[in-house]
Amino acid sequence: MLRTLLLYLSERKTPQRLLTSLPAVRKLHERFVAGESIAEALAAVRRLKSDGFDFTLDHLGESVKDATAAEAATQAYLEILDRLKSEGLRPNISIKLTSLGLAFDEALARRNLAMLADRARQHEGFVRIDMESSAYTESTLRVFRDLDAPRDRVGVVIQAYLYRSEKDVKDLTAMGAWVRLTKGAYQEPPEIAFPKKVQVDANYVKLMTTLLATSGHHAIATHDPQMIAATQAYAREKGVGPDRFEFQMLYGVRRRLQRELLQQGYRVRIYVPYGRQWYPYFMRRLAERPANVLFLLRNLARA
Ligand code: FDA
Repeated sequence: MLRTLLLYLSERKTPQRLLTSLPAVRKLHERFVAGESIAEALAAVRRLKSDGFDFTLDHLGESVKDATAAEAATQAYLEILDRLKSEGLRPNISIKLTSLGLAFDEALARRNLAMLADRARQHEGFVRIDMESSAYTESTLRVFRDLDAPRDRVGVVIQAYLYRSEKDVKDLTAMGAWVRLTKGAYQEPPEIAFPKKVQVDANYVKLMTTLLATSGHHAIATHDPQMIAATQAYAREKGVGPDRFEFQMLYGVRRRLQRELLQQGYRVRIYVPYGRQWYPYFMRRLAERPANVLFLLRNLARA
């Protein structure tokens, strides 16, 4: 219920205005978002690198409504790719195709993505296409499949909660794609997505084994100790070394676990979001863990 409500609110403008004006909300969002400016994002990335983590930067923004906004988002990402390169950091960005125009003009999103892929190739960086709600699954995969870019420069995300993901993973691995496996963060109906956590988890493990059996460099993105243990056990059993895949986690989530995996010799990439449009991202993080909401409510009560 709470998850449904939070995900509903994440897409509404009026609660956004109200909630983002509350100091307690602004304070909690700092845990999940590295800052509003590129300078703050780079400072977070440098801290992570000095601790031994890899990173991927997400300039927050999604569902833009016109070409001007889509071009501004593309320019912002081009700037980040250049900036990372000039700072001696291997560029790695995570983008949402709706921020590049997918919701109203697929051809525009394709052109914008091609520009980013090209720049990433020049800088020996990587572009990860995040997966959004099921309204965009098919178009996101179509745009990814048609993109003329080396497979080690642009990858895509799969959500284990979708029934279709098993086939998508087979198709993607057959074409040599590099996949980030997630559970999925949106509200989806039972007609297309597993409704129970136990089913999502079982599918996650199944997809993880399919991915790690192939030669791509895949990302196992989760904070769930059971998913992590299943990955480690499978990798050990099949002789898949820690250099053949990576774990990924979100900025500010399960920091101790992030460090433990590093200490065990795994590669860990932290997803670092920054920017002014943090509200939908923040609400999805609240929806993932009821304790985050309790923490917020306690602070609101104190304010
Ligand atoms: P699960 O939700 O079962 O959580 C396991 C444990 O992790 C919880 O018990 C809790 O302790 C901790 N935890 C999880 N989320 C937390 C939070 N927000 N705050 C505090 N603790 C938390 N989704 C998507 O649909 N499209 C995408 O492109 C991406 N991209 C992406 C990148 C990366 C690097 C990660 C790690 C995740 C995503 N996601 C995503 C989000 C993903 O789909 C999923 O919603 C979250 O990762 C939570 O699922 P877990 O696998 O962590 O398991």
